[in-house]
Amino acid sequence: MIDPFLSGNPLAATTPDEIKVDFVLLTHAHQDHILDAYPIAKANEATIVATFELAAYMEFQGAKTLAMNIGGRVNLGFAEVQMTHAFHSSGIVLQEQGQIIYGGMPAGFLIRWNGLTMYHSGDTGLFSDMKMLGELYDIDVAFLPIGDLFTMGPEDAAIAARWLNAKAVVPLHFDTFPPIRQDTAAFAAKLESMGIRGIAMKPGERHQIG
Ligand code: NI
Repeated sequence: MIDPFLSGNPLAATTPDEIKVDFVLLTHAHQDHILDAYPIAKANEATIVATFELAAYMEFQGAKTLAMNIGGRVNLGFAEVQMTHAFHSSGIVLQEQGQIIYGGMPAGFLIRWNGLTMYHSGDTGLFSDMKMLGELYDIDVAFLPIGDLFTMGPEDAAIAARWLNAKAVVPLHFDTFPPIRQDTAAFAAKLESMGIRGIAMKPGERHQIG
C-alpha cells in the first residue's frame, strides 16, 4: 500500500482495519499520506518503507521499518522498489506542540512487480528529470497528482505523462478537499488524445493492468 489516508479522508471507500498488506510505502510525511500508516503497519505486522528520517519517525512509534533514500533500490521479495526524487515538502506538523519537524525529503517510487514497471511520483510539481525516467525505464503505468495548488495540476501532469513516456496514467491527489477538485474524465480524455491510456478511478474501484 502507498500513502494510506483513509480515516481522515471524506472520500475513502474503505477503513484502515480492512486493509491487508505486507508493506506500506510512504512518499513523504504529510498527514494526508501517513495518517493511517502506523495503525495499518501495526495491525498487519507490515514494514513501512520510507526515507531515512520518516522511517525513523515511524520506528519511534513502534513500527517495523525499512529506511532508504533517493536513488536507492531494495528488493521486497515480491517486487523491487527504487526511490526517486520529487519536488514538494515533507515536514511533520505537530499541532499541539506548535512545531514542525523534519520528515526527510519528499520522494516517489519506481516499482517493478510481475514484469510491470510502475512509477508513483508522490506529491510533486513537474520536473524535467521525468524525461530521464522516461528514457531510462519502460513505464507501464504512472500514478501522477493532478490536484493543483499543492502539486501539479492536470496540464502539467499531461506533460509529465508525455515526458515519462508512460503507457497508462492513473491520476491521484484530487477531490479530497475543495481546493483540489478536478475533472478526471477531462484529464483522461486529454491523455487519450495524446495516445496515452488515462485511467480515472473512483474510490474503491479496482483496475487490472497487463
Ligand atoms: Ni504532500
